[in-house]
Amino acid sequence: MPETVLVTGGAGFIGSHSCVELLDHGYEVVVVDNHVNSSPEALVRVAKIAGRPLIAAYAIDVRDRAALSEVFARHPVDAVIHFAAHKAVGESVSLPIEYYDTNVGGTCALLSVMHEHEVHRLVFSSSCSVYGDARTVPLSEDSPVAPTNPYARTKLMCERILEDVCARLQDLKVLALRYFNPVGAHPSGLLGEDPHGIPGNLMPYIAQVAVGRREELSVFGDDYPTPDGTGVRDYIHVMDVAEGHRVALEHLDDRAGMRVFNLGTGTGTSVLQLVDAFAAVSGRSVPCRTVGRRAGDVAALVADASAVAAAWGWTTTRDLTTMCRDAWRFQELNPDGYARPSARAGGPTPGESPDG
Ligand code: UFG
Repeated sequence: MPETVLVTGGAGFIGSHSCVELLDHGYEVVVVDNHVNSSPEALVRVAKIAGRPLIAAYAIDVRDRAALSEVFARHPVDAVIHFAAHKAVGESVSLPIEYYDTNVGGTCALLSVMHEHEVHRLVFSSSCSVYGDARTVPLSEDSPVAPTNPYARTKLMCERILEDVCARLQDLKVLALRYFNPVGAHPSGLLGEDPHGIPGNLMPYIAQVAVGRREELSVFGDDYPTPDGTGVRDYIHVMDVAEGHRVALEHLDDRAGMRVFNLGTGTGTSVLQLVDAFAAVSGRSVPCRTVGRRAGDVAALVADASAVAAAWGWTTTRDLTTMCRDAWRFQELNPDGYARPSARAGGPTPGESPDG
């Protein structure tokens, strides 16, 4: 019998790519997503790429325990991957209540419903931002945590909650994956990052400038203690992140309790280096203007990725050029995201109604 995996936030950026990876590897997939920052179209494309459908997709909020419980009652869920959360650092400073409510409240609701239905296996989306303003990089899982913004604090709180619940529920197996900065897109160009409104993250912003949707990139600070003064991050291809989740599922049963792993490449890239790499791959110019630092930002976050390699024998394989090339392919084929794909992406041409 194939395993059934419930993916919360499955229509989102990382969630949708992970659904493809799971379907490609024989898993049955059930998605719940309230589409607050995702499009149902992503799930149509997941099925198109994988060549087979999801078992079901529910437009519900993970905080809605009754609706979530109904999903567990309908499907024989073997494991859960919990992506559903808000994820923009800047936004979290202005909307802290929403961040705590969705990210922490959503995780608590999910845990109680999993417990009710005796589902004991969970892969949780954590974040490298829990490390905060790191004095030295690379960061191993044992590096001190000191989050600097509400988003990062929600992720650390969820990790603490999961530890406490694992201490109480002996059957529970949890892998929390601290992602560094997921970017890129599925190589088909059908699936990618399509944030609602103004992008809060760097790569989608660069892509929208390159395609002419936005005028210039604001570089948030050039006075950090980094080689060129701009923020350094460990960008990781979203297909590597997706693969990491599939491999994590295969290792959930290694032992009970809570374990934490970094998902990164170990390579740091500055804002200006990413802009240059993207411009080279796309052949487009990406005008930049330096502005002040963004609240809650830190100078450098780079992973020590050796723990996952040692535990699972798995490492990332896709480099920065591949990340930029795949992000650009998605942007070119879908200049307005999922809302109005170009004819080359298999969607309606401008002026044509969606149903033909
Ligand atoms: N940046 C800019 N201009 C922008 C956006 C970002 O200069 O318009 C800079 C930031 O200052 C930072 C770097 O680009 O130095 C990366 O910023 P992102 O917003 O893309 O990502 P963060 O490092 O802030 O990371 C956050 C979360 C991660 C998460 C990531 C992607 O902390 O957990 O977003 O969602 F993985």
